[in-house]
Formats: sequence, structure tokens, C-alpha cells
Amino acid sequence: MEKIEKSKINSLDFDNWEDYVGDLTTNARWISSLNEKPLFGNWLIPKRKNLPKIPDDVKSHHGIWISEIPYQTIMRFTKENDLVWSIFGGTGIDYDIATFLNRRCIINDLFPKRDFIIEADSSNFKLNEKAKLVLAHPPYWDMVHYTEDENDGSNQKSLLDFIRWWEKIVLNVNESIDDNGHLILACGNMYKNSEEICLGEILKNICLANGYILKQHIIKDYGETKGSEAKNYNVNYYRQLKGGYGNFYGDNVFILKRAKSKNNIKEAYEYIFRKD
Ligand SMILES: C[S@@+](CC[C@H](N)C(=O)[O-])C[C@H]1O[C@@H](n2cnc3c(N)ncnc32)[C@H](O)[C@@H]1O
Repeated sequence: MEKIEKSKINSLDFDNWEDYVGDLTTNARWISSLNEKPLFGNWLIPKRKNLPKIPDDVKSHHGIWISEIPYQTIMRFTKENDLVWSIFGGTGIDYDIATFLNRRCIINDLFPKRDFIIEADSSNFKLNEKAKLVLAHPPYWDMVHYTEDENDGSNQKSLLDFIRWWEKIVLNVNESIDDNGHLILACGNMYKNSEEICLGEILKNICLANGYILKQHIIKDYGETKGSEAKNYNVNYYRQLKGGYGNFYGDNVFILKRAKSKNNIKEAYEYIFRKD
């Protein structure tokens, strides 16, 4: 634990910081205790015993997403035999789930871990047929380094480079996605250089500027990951209370559809970010 000293931004008593647990929270997702119909607000992710599991030899891959994301989105946005394109293949779980649900799947990654994953860069890889659904779980900028490849999102030097990298991917996806197809983007927030960056939000905005509308924003908790283990919780809580920040133990999942916004969202964002 850090040396106990006063916070610059509040008068909390850090000698007794544990007394604040249950009173002050640094959590990002607050649930009202008055919610009488929890199903309307919360979804308890089921343990689906029947779905394919990630094989043991690729389980150590960093930044795995839960199979509930491909499962839910494939079920909701494709029909049997439709084509699904997974553009950041990782462990290959998207292919397993798509095949299990009788959908065809093309899956690629810069560094394939299984034999059905095509070695290709999603900023220039083209499909011969348009996909109904594109699954995108990109690197969260440099949070985890995947490969030494300069086209790997995790090797982008600055936030702006990372955004440019993502825009190239979106423009390339646009050539191979169905006119009414869906793009699923999962990307959380990151805390870097003393500020919270809503990384997923920024990537989602790039999609809105390039021919998509947002159909749904889901916030998923982290579940059981190393970062959210109980032993890390106290030290994180203490630091956050003192430093005036919080935790987003979660992922943003954005359901985007290839369509023109009738609210002219792009114009609204252009106004917000105009250069005077
Ligand atoms: C967050 S992981 C995806 C994990 C996957 N959802 C899973 O559950 O197995 C991101 C992946 O993107 C890959 N990657 C990074 N840049 C890429 C690019 N330009 N084209 C294709 N894959 C890329 C990395 O090699 C890494 O495997």
C-alpha cells in the first residue's frame, strides 16, 4: 500500500480509507436499488454449457471477449447460412460460435493462432462476398501488445495514430459489408496519463462519421479477469478515491448498422469538434 498522505482534491481521511467502502464508490456502473424489473436494465450473462469453448492451447491470448457477444449478435443480426466476418480473430472463438449456429464465417488476424484463421490485415483484406455481420474486437490501443507488426493497432504510437489506424479498418470493412449489415464493436475505456479516455466511444464516432448509425450501446462488466480480482480491488479503490478517478471495469459494446442517420449525427459531431 502507498505511503499515507493527504489527497490534493478532497479532505477524506486516508488513514481510515476502508471506512468509505459502501459509502463512496469509484465504480462506473451504478444500479438503482429501486429497479423493480431488473430484467429491463440488467442482463445476467448465462453460463451456456452447450456453446463451444476456447481451446486450452489458445486460452492465454490476452483480451479475449466472452462468447456471449458473438452468440447474441449472430443470433440477432444474421440468419442461418449468412456470412459473418471476424476482423480481429484472436482465439478463433467467433468462428467456433458462428459454425455452431450454422453461419458461415471468415476470420482473419495479423497473427493467426488456429489453422482456419486467415493471416491478413483488416485494413486491406477483401471478401469476395458481402458479410451480413462484422465482429470487431480491436486492441485497446497499446494496453496489450499483440505483435511487432506496424499495422497492428497495439503498435500505434499516439492516440491520433490509433484513430487513423481504426478509420482505415472501417473504410476497408465498408467494401465488404452488406448494405444493411451490422458492425459490432467492443472496446472499453482506458486510463492513461491521468485521464480517462473513452476509447470505444471515439472508435464508435469514427463509425458514425463513415456510414453507420448506432442501434445500441451495451455496457458489459469485466467479469472474472485478472484486473478485477479481489486482491487488486482495494488498492485500486484507494488510489481512485485519492486521485479523483474511477474504474470502468467493463467494455462498451456498440451495435452499429450500415445506414444513413436521419438525425444527421455526423453534422452534430462536426459542429462539436469544429475548429474556430
Ligand atoms: C482483443 S484481440 C481479439 C480477441 C478475440 N475477440 C477473442 O476473443 O479471441 C485483438 C486481435 O487483433 C489482432 N490485430 C491487431 N491489428 C490487426 C490488424 N490490422 N488486422 C487484423 N488483426 C489485427 C491482434 O493480433 C489480436 O489477436
